[in-house]
Amino acid sequence: MSASESRVSERRLVSAARAGRRRAHAPYSGFKVGAALETEDGTLITGCNVENATYGLTVCAERVAMFKAISEGHRRFRRIAVVADTAAPTPPCGACRQILWEFAGDIEVVMANTTKVTARLRLADLLPLPFDHRLLR
Ligand code: THU
Repeated sequence: MSASESRVSERRLVSAARAGRRRAHAPYSGFKVGAALETEDGTLITGCNVENATYGLTVCAERVAMFKAISEGHRRFRRIAVVADTAAPTPPCGACRQILWEFAGDIEVVMANTTKVTARLRLADLLPLPFDHRLLR
């Protein structure tokens, strides 16, 4: 199998997001989040939420992962996993949905907690009427 065809198991994707979560900087909310993005060539890029004493400068785990990926030259994505320690699924916030759409389009979003997967959705279902480059013509 060539590198461009390699697929990562959901188990590995979610476990990368859990590892990302362990690096969260969330002293204000106490709500630690991890993310892992799977690129088309099977690379996993993790993120965690990074809070700030101003509160408003906080960046979510999903955006950290995406901006890391973009800055490292990745442009094609398959899936993202988001992990928080909650029984209910923790979906990307509205701002993160927009950023994910910009670079990844309609990828799969896997939500999980520390023990199991809680939901699987497509980004188009989470962001049904996205603003994107097509509207700028
Ligand atoms: N947060 C994320 O990192 N991702 C989400 O999907 C939801 C919210 C973070 C932002 C903040 O640090 C904390 O969770 C509470 O909102």
